[in-house]
Amino acid sequence: MSIKSISKTQPEIFEFSKENLEKSKLEIKKYPKNKQASAVIALLYLAQKQNDNWIPLEATKYIAKLLSMPYIKVYEVATFYSMFNLSPVGKYFVQVCTTTPCMIRGAKKLTDICKRNISENQNKLSDNKLCSWTEVECLGACVNAPMMQINQDYFEDLDEKAAEEIIQKLLRDEFSKPGSARKRKSNAPEKEKTTLLQEKNA
Ligand code: FES
Repeated sequence: MSIKSISKTQPEIFEFSKENLEKSKLEIKKYPKNKQASAVIALLYLAQKQNDNWIPLEATKYIAKLLSMPYIKVYEVATFYSMFNLSPVGKYFVQVCTTTPCMIRGAKKLTDICKRNISENQNKLSDNKLCSWTEVECLGACVNAPMMQINQDYFEDLDEKAAEEIIQKLLRDEFSKPGSARKRKSNAPEKEKTTLLQEKNA
């Protein structure tokens, strides 16, 4: 289960860079007058990108002001979605899917590997500060379960050996090649297709 943790160390102020302020204005413009609150997810995403992949509480207050909406509503959105981090994450942020298809294909072994190698608890940095991990809900790659996302990349069809190797490389500041650990192409059958053989482009 994904656990939200809010950093005890918070910056005193947050404001968008000039570039992100421009981008936020463009996002707000996409919505009708007085419906600017609809841009909240886009603005939270910008704040997270600007701030090393996590959102300080000051950023949620800043966004609330920018969108003329109550701070608690921005806070609710930021704490609801697992893609928003409310505490610092490592240079390598490992998100292990633990929804049913991944779970029945061995996701528990992946979380155990993260606990052993990165940190006993989710959302805590590794001793060398390079990695952190968390559990998340379905990342939409169930057909290649079990899987984990590291930064923007998917690592799929994992077993203990492959996952351990990937994590240990991260801790040495090395990034493995993303994709299927069993070298499947996308989600194609492993031993060539067995149906629709007569059909071209099937
Ligand atoms: S259940 Fe893990 S990707 Fe969907």
